[in-house]
Amino acid sequence: MHAMRIALMTAVALTACTGEPPSFDSVTGGNPRRGLEAIQRYGCGACHRIDGVPGAYGTVGPTLQRIGEGAYIAGKLPNSPENLQQWMRFPQRIVPGNAMPDLDVTEPDARDIAAYLYHQ
Ligand code: HEC
Repeated sequence: MHAMRIALMTAVALTACTGEPPSFDSVTGGNPRRGLEAIQRYGCGACHRIDGVPGAYGTVGPTLQRIGEGAYIAGKLPNSPENLQQWMRFPQRIVPGNAMPDLDVTEPDARDIAAYLYHQ
């Protein structure tokens, strides 16, 4: 039992350290590897702390490190892969006047970013 826990923890640590995200996520159907690239392209890290993204230490918005665990997205939408993508694409429609601008995130990019966030 104990040995198995150690083996599991080692496996998790190894995955975290190799840096390369997987290329497919079954929950979203997205590509976490492309998601990482999209996060950098849109500059999400200027406002958010995101694991594994160089320079993503922003504190304007909440950390996205545990986005899969919360009950709500932006305190408003029940947390689901679909709602996470809706939020990324249309934050101003969902919570008008909030500090996250609409960044014209495309549907495939939102899917890949969600895939990355679930795997970070
Ligand atoms: C200019 C700053 C800014 C940028 C750039 C930005 N965000 Fe945000 N984001 C925020 C703020 C502020 C909130 C909190 C909004 C609220 O709760 O009303 C937020 C909330 C979120 C949430 C919900 C977090 C939670 O805990 O509920 C997610 C997910 C998110 N942003 C993803 C992204 C992604 C992905 C990008 C890049 C495509 C991005 N953000 C770019 C400022 C930003």
